Amino acid sequence: MSDDSPSYRMYNEFAHLWQQISAPEDYAEEAAELREALFDMLPDGPDAYRPKVLEMGVGGGNSLSHLTDFMDAVATDLSAEMLEISRAVNPSVQHIVGDMRDLRLEQEFDAVVILDAISYMLTQDDLRRTFETARAHLSPGGVFIAGPDWLQGITPVPNLSCKLGKASDLSYAEYVHDPDPSDTEIELIFNFFITQPDGSVRVEEDRHRHGIFPLETWLLTMREAGFESGTRRYPSDVIGGSGYYITGIAI
Ligand SMILES: C[S@@+](CC[C@H](N)C(=O)[O-])C[C@H]1O[C@@H](n2cnc3c(N)ncnc32)[C@H](O)[C@@H]1O
Repeated sequence: MSDDSPSYRMYNEFAHLWQQISAPEDYAEEAAELREALFDMLPDGPDAYRPKVLEMGVGGGNSLSHLTDFMDAVATDLSAEMLEISRAVNPSVQHIVGDMRDLRLEQEFDAVVILDAISYMLTQDDLRRTFETARAHLSPGGVFIAGPDWLQGITPVPNLSCKLGKASDLSYAEYVHDPDPSDTEIELIFNFFITQPDGSVRVEEDRHRHGIFPLETWLLTMREAGFESGTRRYPSDVIGGSGYYITGIAI
């Protein structure tokens, strides 16, 4: 892990509870959107070949679990604990620990994908380094799709929003707010209520930071990293997220 990477408890200490926060079946629609976007951008359709795809920030591999039927994937993440969870649902996939800002694999791909994990990029320099990583793993014509959760001026960040989830051993509350609308960060505060074997409930807090940038910053930074950049809409009410994929074709 890079020195400047915060260690989020959800992805380390509580990674074993991931599927109670977010289950593979919840990602089927998102994966269908991504599949369509990928094959619209790749030179051939799914009947012609199995593209080789790098997913960075794969987390628990929920999205990926719906995609491995028609592509060969390599999955990376900062957290070895999350990769363990992904490995269980994606046994055919190679999993590698790495930071999307400086990962360099000696492999080339038809496409690079980063979904909600790209929201952990907090500065324009983080974005630039991540896009350079994607470019380093593609040849000209290669496809890049990023799926940020937030876009400044497009995605509303309510100052007081609270989401509740409940599963067998875990309930959680997620509170999202923007402490300083003049910068490029928002804060997500999670409270986990974890049922213990003796029936008591442990309460834990985990604070995350996400980046929020104007669309123009995404497009410009991607162009500077060597892509022809664009956008593609998806129905955010179905999937969550910003409703925009930021897309790139390597130049
Ligand atoms: C919300 S989870 C991704 C969930 C995933 N979409 C799924 O289907 O399970 C976000 C992931 O981003 C990872 N992450 C955060 N910063 C990262 C970085 N700099 N490089 C690689 N992965 C990162 C975290 O470790 C975490 O596993």
